[in-house]
Amino acid sequence: MGNNILSPSLLSVDFNNIERDSRIIDEAGAEWFHLDVMDGTFVPNISFGPPVIECIRKITDRFFDVHLMIVEPIRYIDVFKAAGADMITVHYEACKDLKATIEAIKNTGVKCGVSIKPDTDVCVLEDYISMIDMVLIMSVEPGFGGQKFMPKALGKIKATKALANKSNPNLYIEVDGGITLDNVKDVIDAGANVIVAGSAVFKGDKVDNVKRFYEIMNS
Ligand code: DX5
Ligand code: ZN
Repeated sequence: MGNNILSPSLLSVDFNNIERDSRIIDEAGAEWFHLDVMDGTFVPNISFGPPVIECIRKITDRFFDVHLMIVEPIRYIDVFKAAGADMITVHYEACKDLKATIEAIKNTGVKCGVSIKPDTDVCVLEDYISMIDMVLIMSVEPGFGGQKFMPKALGKIKATKALANKSNPNLYIEVDGGITLDNVKDVIDAGANVIVAGSAVFKGDKVDNVKRFYEIMNS
């Protein structure tokens, strides 16, 4: 048995029933809520921002894992902390000064993650891993739910795990994009310990999906 965590992506929730569905996945046992914020510039899509996160914060006490797909996220760290984030993850590719951005996040008291897109090499994170709480490996091009998992992410997870063993053994390694009940075991075996899943949780029976993810992840 492992202690791997499921972080369902609310991008795939039925927005007409966000309260009902948030309660359903909370009660089914999902430990983290993954909140995808998109600005239409860093990625070609616009999702939701702080007011929506603030609303969901009133529904559940679960850990809020906020994935910022926005340019220069340093401008908005305080706003997302105030909206209820427990962890703020920024993109390596979106920050002019990553170190200052990490420090700004840590200064607010929330946990800090850094994400890389599919074409960005893990080695760019080497100098930052000891300062952060999580690396988020994107296994699709960020911007949309429901895409197909890119198997090249598996090698990047292993490389991140090797870096973590050297400089930060408690690092969370989260993987996001195209994860299903059929491929989640490969992602865990490569070294991930936090799994994001959007469509694979919210399509069909949400309670059953959450339970089956945990069964496979921690078997
Ligand atoms: C994509 C987002 C993901 C997405 C995952 O840019 O970061 O969190 O919602 O959705 P699925 O699991 O459907 O690929
Ligand atoms: Zn995400």
